[in-house]
Amino acid sequence: MCGIVGIVGGHPVSQRLLDALKRLEYRGYDSAGVATISGGTLERRRAQGKLINLEMRLKELPLDGIIGIGHTRWATHGAPTERNAHPHIVDGVAVVHNGIIENFAELKAELEETGADFETSTDSEVVAHLLAKYRRDGMSGHGAMQKMLKRLRGAFSLAIIFQDEPSTITVARNGPPLVIGHGDGEMFLGSDPISLAPLTNEVTYLIDGDWGLVSRTEVMIFDSEGNPVTRPRCASMALADRVTKGDYAHFMEKEIHEQPQVVARALTHYVDIAGRRVAPLSARMDFANVSSLVISACGTAYLAGLIGRYWFERYARLSVEIDVASEFRYRDIPLPPHAAALFVSQSGETADTLASLRYCKGNGLKVGAVVNTTESTIAREADAIFPIFAGPEIGVASTKAFTCQLTVLAALALGAGKARGRICEDEERQLVTSLIEMPRIMRQVLENIQPKIQLLSRELSEFSHVLYLGRGTSFPLAMEGALKLKEISYINAGGYAAGELKHGPIALVDENVPVIIIAPHDRFFDKTVSNMQEVAARGGRVVFITDERGAASSKLDTLQTIVLPDVEEIVAPMIFSLPLQLLAYHAAVFKGTDVDQPRNLAKSVTVE
Ligand code: G6P
Repeated sequence: MCGIVGIVGGHPVSQRLLDALKRLEYRGYDSAGVATISGGTLERRRAQGKLINLEMRLKELPLDGIIGIGHTRWATHGAPTERNAHPHIVDGVAVVHNGIIENFAELKAELEETGADFETSTDSEVVAHLLAKYRRDGMSGHGAMQKMLKRLRGAFSLAIIFQDEPSTITVARNGPPLVIGHGDGEMFLGSDPISLAPLTNEVTYLIDGDWGLVSRTEVMIFDSEGNPVTRPRCASMALADRVTKGDYAHFMEKEIHEQPQVVARALTHYVDIAGRRVAPLSARMDFANVSSLVISACGTAYLAGLIGRYWFERYARLSVEIDVASEFRYRDIPLPPHAAALFVSQSGETADTLASLRYCKGNGLKVGAVVNTTESTIAREADAIFPIFAGPEIGVASTKAFTCQLTVLAALALGAGKARGRICEDEERQLVTSLIEMPRIMRQVLENIQPKIQLLSRELSEFSHVLYLGRGTSFPLAMEGALKLKEISYINAGGYAAGELKHGPIALVDENVPVIIIAPHDRFFDKTVSNMQEVAARGGRVVFITDERGAASSKLDTLQTIVLPDVEEIVAPMIFSLPLQLLAYHAAVFKGTDVDQPRNLAKSVTVE
């Protein structure tokens, strides 16, 4: 999604704006630009594609100036061309925008009637035209901004510079996050604290409805009615060092291999390793006295939530209502009294997940955030935070955040089970022991399966369609395996409950559609094997992912089989994630796609 940066500096800003934009690259974007006031005139440089293109442009035509704004654009309205790239400049007003102006068509028509000449197909350009119009009508930047904000509908964060007010950046937030950074005689702004970390760790988060004026020494913030408001200044924990790939070819590969380590770190916060007990949760969420649980999330985080549902139902006997946040927020769902809600999000900024959280909170539910970014909006608005400790995840396709989300959800489900008297001490000890052993098994799997996976991925990369099947927690895992493959290799893939095979997907099965069957030797194993036979009988190419017990009992040596160690049911989704992630990763590498920043995808989806 789009990223915004800005600097009101004491010395030239264009290189620092570029560096800050590089720190937002992980969000996904398709063009970029910066504008500064140089010699009294607003000037901009923009480029389609990656930041390297903008960097080259700035080398050819440098920009000086000590105040500036920058933007990485993830196209929503209008193609990802240089013409559509931000900043938009109209009559001495430069604007960068993250979000969607929902009433832009109406505003554009109105502005065109008064003679405005639009250059781009973006929704964002209306902001520059509206402000320019109000300035021409004689208003100050402050007045124009206040009037303009009343006209906008939708989600936005904005940073604006007026050529004739060269010491101030005007900002606004209604939806996508915006952070102000306090420097020494300089001020900064960015879409997240990570973008500002080398510049400052002293930050102020704007909240929805806020807008303000940022100068070198002062920040003035107003609410939507124009009343001055105070927002706290706090210390950000974002690290200044940029995360690097180390010896790995891609961030995704690195993040896959980090999993034993980060999952182990997450566990230390949720279980008592020495005592083999789950850590008490009641101070954060009183699972003992909730009537049911609501879970909502998007993308991979939603699939982690789906797996979590099986655990909460089984170990805590809590019934779980779960939906993708983009549906949940609009279903007008009657929420059960005394229910609790969990929102799962790596970034903590996903617009639909945040809206669902607000819906539940507004209806009196106690809400918990299972997040990686503990300084995010979702974390800040939740009643309880359950960090997943995955560390920065840069690859757009989520891997280590997924297994850390699963680890935390498993521990929470066991904690809830214990609080509700649904698991006994022996069971708790046994389940916690298997969680504690999980990082070691993950390491062993990552060391052992690579050669086989590489061969399989090469084959897989030549197909156009792939099916994934599983039962129980392996069903959402099948969906996650399919999502991973399609996200980064662009191969069409679908994940289904194996029991649904006969209700549709089997029609697709022939020698051109590989079927990946996820079948740990659990309660469902025999049934899944039957489904596998049905696929094999129709000439389907089966890739069978099972464990040692499964391999021994199925005796299907004609099939391509990946055999993982035997593990407890609660640990299987984390262990079985590894071959699925590696299959997708290597298939994408064989196809030569942009693994870490796949086309059209964004890491942090801050608009609907
Ligand atoms: C995007 C990302 C996915 C992620 C989803 C939810 O689609 O590409 O990897 O699962 O958003 O993001 P969140 O930050 O809320 O987990």
